Amino acid sequence: MSPKPVLSFLFYLFSGALPCSVHAQTVNSPYSYQVRKRVECTHGAVVSAHPLASRTGAVILQQGGNALDAAIATQLALAVVYPGAGNIGGGGFMVAHLANQKNIALDFREKAPAAATRDMYLDSAGNPRTDLSQNGHLAAGVPGTIAGLFAELKYAKLPFAKLVQPAIDLAENGFVITEAEARNLNNTQDAFKKYNTVTPVFVKEGGWKAGDTLVQKDLARTLRLIRDKGAKGFYEGETARLITAEMERGKGIITAADLKNYEVKEREPSVFAYKNFQIVTMPLPSSGGVILQQMMKMVEDEPLKAYGFESAKSVHLMTEVERLAYADRAKYLGDRDYYSVPVKTLTSKAYLQQRKALIEPDKAGSSKDIQAGTISPASEETTHLDVYDGEGNAVSITTTLNGGYGNRVVVAGAGFLLNNEMDDFSIKPGVPNMYGAVGAEANAIAPGKRMLSSMTPTLVLDRGKVVLVVGTPGGTTITTSVFQTLVDLLEFGLSVEDAVNKPKFHHQWLPDEVYVEPAFPADTREELKKMGYTITQRGSIGRTEVIKVSGNQIEAVGDGRGDDTAEGY
Ligand code: GLY
Repeated sequence: MSPKPVLSFLFYLFSGALPCSVHAQTVNSPYSYQVRKRVECTHGAVVSAHPLASRTGAVILQQGGNALDAAIATQLALAVVYPGAGNIGGGGFMVAHLANQKNIALDFREKAPAAATRDMYLDSAGNPRTDLSQNGHLAAGVPGTIAGLFAELKYAKLPFAKLVQPAIDLAENGFVITEAEARNLNNTQDAFKKYNTVTPVFVKEGGWKAGDTLVQKDLARTLRLIRDKGAKGFYEGETARLITAEMERGKGIITAADLKNYEVKEREPSVFAYKNFQIVTMPLPSSGGVILQQMMKMVEDEPLKAYGFESAKSVHLMTEVERLAYADRAKYLGDRDYYSVPVKTLTSKAYLQQRKALIEPDKAGSSKDIQAGTISPASEETTHLDVYDGEGNAVSITTTLNGGYGNRVVVAGAGFLLNNEMDDFSIKPGVPNMYGAVGAEANAIAPGKRMLSSMTPTLVLDRGKVVLVVGTPGGTTITTSVFQTLVDLLEFGLSVEDAVNKPKFHHQWLPDEVYVEPAFPADTREELKKMGYTITQRGSIGRTEVIKVSGNQIEAVGDGRGDDTAEGY
């Protein structure tokens, strides 16, 4: 029998870190847990979007697991305790650096089903049907997360059964939800009712409130099948049958063959030098690696520190390099297995110098004039986790359902949400996706193709040793947030807490606006307006997680914008 839920959240932001021993000894239960924003440790640390997931990973580290073990356990726990983005019905990317100096990039991005067609989201008059690319069964790509977890397992030490058990227990016995989760679930009640024929556990008459217990028995059963049968417990047999039955009920097109044929791709990581550092990040089909490199290289020789953090001069320069990079993203970037992308040229010194020459000092550029060089916003419910294990292994993983709670379809009997990742394709050239991002031929739909992503799990190495582990959710804002976080740490010398929590800004070429968070300084806004920028205040940008390693000191910081929590020992 489950213990009676007693909610005792302590939401607080530490100005100083708690000593590690406190964390090692603190009892966390699914019914009483704490959000911790910062820890300083020496053995290992985990930071993720939910306290129970971070704690799960930290316990695995304490029990002798390495960073990969902890990442797998954290990712699985997120699929239970953070259903808006944690998932087994979506996909993602992992970038890791092993103590033996090997860099790894795993692509477990969703794929277009075999029956997908280029114009599947256009009506007979050629009008885009974003309602179908964003909602319900037809919006789902073939999920990659479970295949990704088993690819990660190759580098782990502990048996999968041990790593999945905490997630099974959380699903089976339930956990109390936070205020943010209650709000998000309440905002999605109508969609859950509309897109499901069998009422999922996320629907609650009278609404959810912080401290309610969420029990997911069907999900627990699916996780047990995966524990006992491996990836086949998802891609074949009972779970596959439940997915295809769900597709038939909702006129989706994912088939048993699509599931059986899904495969992870181990890619060559995108690695580039920035001053004395080596940056290791995700290549295509994430746009992150290419455009992060473009942006970093265009500011590398600039005296950003002298311009000042959040000064109009530094924001102007960073906004213009964001504009240039996102113009290229829209035209050139897509799945390289299907479309030839000139990555070498786009990241070459000569090309980036030409592009940078288009920036006018002290004057806003114009996205009408700036096109891609000659030669997407999405729902932002993605999630990121970082792990560092003290032996020198580091893992940075971003996974997504795309929109909050994905396509809002729960596979009946299997208890997990499916993604709405098909909207990350360009459904028609020039038609914005849910994040306002536009694309073209390079990112057109084709059977089996992977949709362009912005997810940018990133590591920074100094002479072969990991010094930073960074990443964030946030749709198209992901790469600009990683860019700003790196610049804040490597150039402006901000503390990790400030780099994570200070207000962020974002420009993505189209629309031609600088998005700023509410706390973005008023005087800088005014100066930018005088330069000709349109400034648009929006809600929070991303939820950045950072681990910083200095010698044997590990500092982990979770973003203050959510329930994000750092744990370690
Ligand atoms: N669905 C968000 C991304 O992949 O960028």
